[in-house]
Amino acid sequence: MIASVLPTYSRAPLTFVKGEGTWLIEADGRRFLDLGAGIAVNALGHAHPKLVAALTDQAGALWHTSNLYHIPQQQQLADKLVDSTFADTVFFTNSGTEACELAVKMARKFWYDKNAPQKVDIITFDGSFHGRSSAGIAAAGSEKMTKGFGPLLPGFTHLAFGDHDALSAAITETTAAIMIEPVQGEGGIRPVPDQCLKGLRDLCDEHGILLILDEVQCGIGRTGKLFAHEWAGIEPDIMMVAKGIGGGFPLGAVLATEHAASGMTAGTHGSTYGGNPLGCAVGCAVLDEVNTPEFLAEVNRKSGLLRQKLEGLVADNPDVFESVRGAGLMIGIKCKALNMDIVNAGYDTQVITVPAADNVIRLLPPLTITDDEIADAIARLDQAAKAVSA
Ligand SMILES: Cc1ncc(COP(=O)(O)O)c(C=O)c1O
Repeated sequence: MIASVLPTYSRAPLTFVKGEGTWLIEADGRRFLDLGAGIAVNALGHAHPKLVAALTDQAGALWHTSNLYHIPQQQQLADKLVDSTFADTVFFTNSGTEACELAVKMARKFWYDKNAPQKVDIITFDGSFHGRSSAGIAAAGSEKMTKGFGPLLPGFTHLAFGDHDALSAAITETTAAIMIEPVQGEGGIRPVPDQCLKGLRDLCDEHGILLILDEVQCGIGRTGKLFAHEWAGIEPDIMMVAKGIGGGFPLGAVLATEHAASGMTAGTHGSTYGGNPLGCAVGCAVLDEVNTPEFLAEVNRKSGLLRQKLEGLVADNPDVFESVRGAGLMIGIKCKALNMDIVNAGYDTQVITVPAADNVIRLLPPLTITDDEIADAIARLDQAAKAVSA
């Protein structure tokens, strides 16, 4: 008999009932050090007092009105994002997938309104992940996600990650945009080098096409800047955001320049829940906390500390681990042993990591992780590695 919850997930044998900072508490009382943060979502850890206050204050006042009316919290969050980024305008969604949907629609509508309706194709890259909707799976294009779900949304060109020659050749008169994650998350924590992001920006400018960055996983302070593309000194035309921006409350956004968003006039897009008062109240609190030079400097300092200790961990366990890569507190450990064996061994040593493609385990801890917790994490990962090695 089918499970009452549609069985699309293969879940770990763990049931968490409470969270405190970097810790998750299992139903049986065991405490787990959370280096996954709900897949880069709990940017400020669990039950951060400022987020709890923002959510509960708003919950006592007003939950939902729909976008038929003005939503002050939405306006505030949009203003904060516009003030802090390349963007002139923001649309709020409930997830990264919905942000992908709008990014695709926005790029196509842009060209339609410029009397170039043939420009519908979006170039994407192997190993990318943009969500599980029809546009999201067509964008990423991997057979694992698309098999059985045809006919796929047309208009995506998939290129090998890092193949510069193929990229120049792939741009034609039907190309609308290039869509890329500055750091691939699901694909195995693969950062796009700054030079390549600059090259992509130049290429888009040269051909007059739009650059869409998917910062759903790598944004909101994760790499030590508010957004990962800032390291390369470039700006996108459109950007997808989710995960960390809600700190655990479902919230996403599409940020865009006025130019790129020019086709999205009244009636062209909408959402019942997107930008609701609860999500945006929390989003404002997250941004106020993360978007300060002091907070981001701490992310960078802790990233250095964690990276240095992880290099030692890899050196101490050469038959289990191969190398460390990533940016900020978005770190991948390429494994020699099966990544899932290490993730599972981590459950025994009470440390949470997340598997990714390319036999990588991902470390995406709360950005608020402490130095002591970093040391603790290394000890637990070392114990897990020794168990796998044995
Ligand atoms: C880069 C990227 N884009 C899009 C998504 C989809 O986001 P969501 O699961 O919130 O729909 C994800 C989720 O993992 C992601 O990592």
